[in-house]
Amino acid sequence: MAYTTTQARQEFDGWSERYDRDPLQRFLFQPSHRMLLGSLVPGDRRVLDVGCGTGQFAYQVRRIHPVAEVVGLDLSAGMLARGRERCQEPLARVRLVRGDSQRLPFRDDSFDVVTCAHSFHHYPDQARVVREMHRVLRPGGRLMILDGDRDRWWGRLLFDGLVVMLEGAVRHLSGTSFWKLFERCGFDHISQRRHGGPLPFLMTTGFARKPHVPEKGCEQAL
Ligand SMILES: C[S@@+](CC[C@H](N)C(=O)[O-])C[C@H]1O[C@@H](n2cnc3c(N)ncnc32)[C@H](O)[C@@H]1O
Repeated sequence: MAYTTTQARQEFDGWSERYDRDPLQRFLFQPSHRMLLGSLVPGDRRVLDVGCGTGQFAYQVRRIHPVAEVVGLDLSAGMLARGRERCQEPLARVRLVRGDSQRLPFRDDSFDVVTCAHSFHHYPDQARVVREMHRVLRPGGRLMILDGDRDRWWGRLLFDGLVVMLEGAVRHLSGTSFWKLFERCGFDHISQRRHGGPLPFLMTTGFARKPHVPEKGCEQAL
């Protein structure tokens, strides 16, 4: 049975209390955030982090780029509540919004960069999310999606085996599927970077080609 947004909400509301102390922080989430942070450039003034969780990455962006307007969006009220606890005065310009990545509550062309770390495999309609990300990006804006790398046997065992057993029917895309999905949803100059080790991950980056009418069949990309 396909994984649903209700399952995602329940999973992360339940995880939210201990999420920031979870050992996965050290071995997966923090190295991932470092890769994303290292890929930002000073011109990235309006940043949207989709599936922001407790907002750790969003707050780091604000610390490093103090003039950036940073918005984090997440489905789980529990995760956002943990994020708001760290919303102290100097970081107050991080805006945390509750919402579903499949229907982003933002205007067209409103961000320079959209990021998404370890959340994409939870989305029931992944093509719809990439089209939404494309819509809210300005022409030439960048999308960076980072998720577990299941292209080699160890990653497949972890993400298609163990994670599915623990979380339900989530779906980690292969590098090729990410690439094709980006292309069909209006991105170009696509590139990919991998991080190896015991918890491998893959970052796919693309630039929004606009004006753009999503091609028919985008949803059948995979
Ligand atoms: C593993 S956490 C990653 C959080 C954060 N990006 C990080 O790197 O720490 C996945 C997050 O995706 C969120 N999520 C799952 N499905 C979502 C959806 N459809 N829309 C928005 N957020 C979603 C969950 O609530 C959870 O906070």
